[in-house]
Amino acid sequence: MLRILLANPSSLFLENTFDMDTPQRTTNASEIDFRRKFELKDKVVVISGGCGLIGRAFCEAVAQFGAHVVVADIAAAQPAIFAKELQAKHGNKCIGIDLAVEDKVSVTKLRDEIIASFGSIDGLVTAHQNKTHLIFEPFESVSEANWDKVVEVNLKGTFLLCQVLGSYMAEKGSGSIVNIPSTYSVVAPNQNLYKGTNMGCPAAYSASKGGIDALSQYLASYWAAKGVRVNMITPHGVWNKHEDQFEKNFANFSPMQRMSYNHEVAPALVYLLSDASSYMTGNNMLVDGGWTAW
Ligand SMILES: NC(=O)c1ccc[n+]([C@@H]2O[C@H](COP(=O)([O-])OP(=O)(O)OC[C@H]3O[C@@H](n4cnc5c(N)ncnc54)[C@H](O)[C@@H]3O)[C@@H](O)[C@H]2O)c1
Repeated sequence: MLRILLANPSSLFLENTFDMDTPQRTTNASEIDFRRKFELKDKVVVISGGCGLIGRAFCEAVAQFGAHVVVADIAAAQPAIFAKELQAKHGNKCIGIDLAVEDKVSVTKLRDEIIASFGSIDGLVTAHQNKTHLIFEPFESVSEANWDKVVEVNLKGTFLLCQVLGSYMAEKGSGSIVNIPSTYSVVAPNQNLYKGTNMGCPAAYSASKGGIDALSQYLASYWAAKGVRVNMITPHGVWNKHEDQFEKNFANFSPMQRMSYNHEVAPALVYLLSDASSYMTGNNMLVDGGWTAW
């Protein structure tokens, strides 16, 4: 860690303090150990929704790259059990913490417990979601209660985690945040995808995810000078034993003609949390099989 004081000579009023891991100043790439750039050894990475379909793959991947993982999820998901399995398998210290992302007291308790256990936070990944969107309601009859729940968990939960844990990282002068919006904050759902199935995607999901995208870009700019990078990963169509008709429809509309797997999303996270992405902030990595390319 190096502390650099940059004074702008053209202005008496502008003086920025950067406190960040400074990349090697060279044009000779042969001096660089590129494998090491991807290492997460001894970094403390917090993953909300860590017991979910994608969250579990995120936890496994970052543990394989050497991180200490904090699995944060609702109590019913039993994050402590999964954390114990990760620790037994990888040897890195991993802990599970019960969390309700929409509750600031719970999020503050999460931060305090991590600092008491590890003394630092290097990575924050917000991979939680409210599942109300799986019960599709036509836009004309969406209940306010469902709208509020989706926005509260998805968007407010991401805001609180960024505010409480991200502010800690900004104060310390380094960190990487990865938020998870959705394809449906980039493009609208193709309604034909759901034909002949029991599925759908309600507007509240798209709206909450659009907010996460905007918030992430805001924070990328806001915290850039503080050494905290804020990026996004947008997964798409991650297979979870979907009904056959949905999988067929999906293949029909996808350039790659198939759904994805959670382990195909997780490598993007290793990249964004590690020094390999040291010049990347405000980016949304689309792991979507080309869905938004045509
Ligand atoms: N699965 C996909 O195809 C897909 C596509 C695009 C985006 N995403 C996004 O990726 C992320 C992960 O998706 P997934 O498929 O793993 O979802 P998932 O439903 O399998 O997992 C979500 C996790 O969030 C947890 N959670 C729910 N409410 C919570 C709360 N109030 N506080 C804390 N944790 C809570 C759940 O217990 C669960 O473990 C979500 O943000 C989702 O919107 C998923």
